[in-house]
Amino acid sequence: RRKIIIDTDPGIDDAFAIIAALSCSQFEVLGITVVGGNNQLNSCVNNALGLVSLMDSRCPVHAGAPVSLNELRLGKTAVEHSTETHGKGGLGGVSLPGDPAGLSTVHAADFIAETVRSNPGEVEIVTLGPLTNIALAMERQPGLLQDVKCIWSMGGGVEKGNRTVVAEFNYWADPEAAARVFAQGQSTSLNMIGLDVTTKTSFSMNDLFFLKLEGGRLGKFFHDITEQYTRVYWERFRLCGCVIHDLVAMMIAIDPSLCGEGDVFPRVNVRIETEGMCRGQTLVDLHNHRDLRDLPRNASVYMGIDRNRYKLRFFETVFKD
Ligand code: BDR
Ligand code: CA
Repeated sequence: RRKIIIDTDPGIDDAFAIIAALSCSQFEVLGITVVGGNNQLNSCVNNALGLVSLMDSRCPVHAGAPVSLNELRLGKTAVEHSTETHGKGGLGGVSLPGDPAGLSTVHAADFIAETVRSNPGEVEIVTLGPLTNIALAMERQPGLLQDVKCIWSMGGGVEKGNRTVVAEFNYWADPEAAARVFAQGQSTSLNMIGLDVTTKTSFSMNDLFFLKLEGGRLGKFFHDITEQYTRVYWERFRLCGCVIHDLVAMMIAIDPSLCGEGDVFPRVNVRIETEGMCRGQTLVDLHNHRDLRDLPRNASVYMGIDRNRYKLRFFETVFKD
């Protein structure tokens, strides 16, 4: 089975992705490493523990960075990000009790560094939150990415942002961490799955009702955690339904064939802006500009997906696998 680490800040869409990963028969999820982001670290950790219990899994949960690299240096411990999208507690107001015994005493960054070191070339990391834990693991073990089989990262956007006009939330939340990971992207296979692809995949209200009616207790859970989230989508974007960003990255990791040849720009240059108004923006050289040719081709960038197969594959993974 494929060895997977999930780095995450659950989070409604993270919850979908974690459930898909824990349901996937191809995956051996070695650990869930948690970072502060959608909510304070302790809420995100509790949600991760709750999801592990919901899935009757024994996968360990590792707490990591509560805040970004810069904020850590300033001694901060609480994220200042608004929690309005993901609701109270981070799962749309749904409380999900977990077993505290599932929480490891090993810091997320140590777990990542150690697991990769002892399984060189075998571990895939799926990142669903700010990249702080990965950057800290790289600090603990320079050259770490050479031993990582690949990274599937939900973040960034070629054409748009969602936290600012140009920046997507995960990379905006810690641009220095994202910049460090992308700066070494050519040492591994780094896949950027950003807003360009995720926003092409909304779940409709019908999809969510279908889950509630036909999906048993997990289906009802998916429906309940998205109730408030869909209201936010309507108020903000006039979209009837919602986008489950992190699930898109996880489903592509599960089945890369969901994206056709024209959907992926393999090995292009991606830089992360860390200054000024565009802080957190991904600068993606999709078309190999002449002036930028000397820059490293450090990531493959996903721009599209077969959205119907994506949903079907999700239903199959969670309900049949
Ligand atoms: C990303 O930001 C978070 O709010 C979501 O969980 C997702 O990881 C989308 O921009
Ligand atoms: Ca997330």
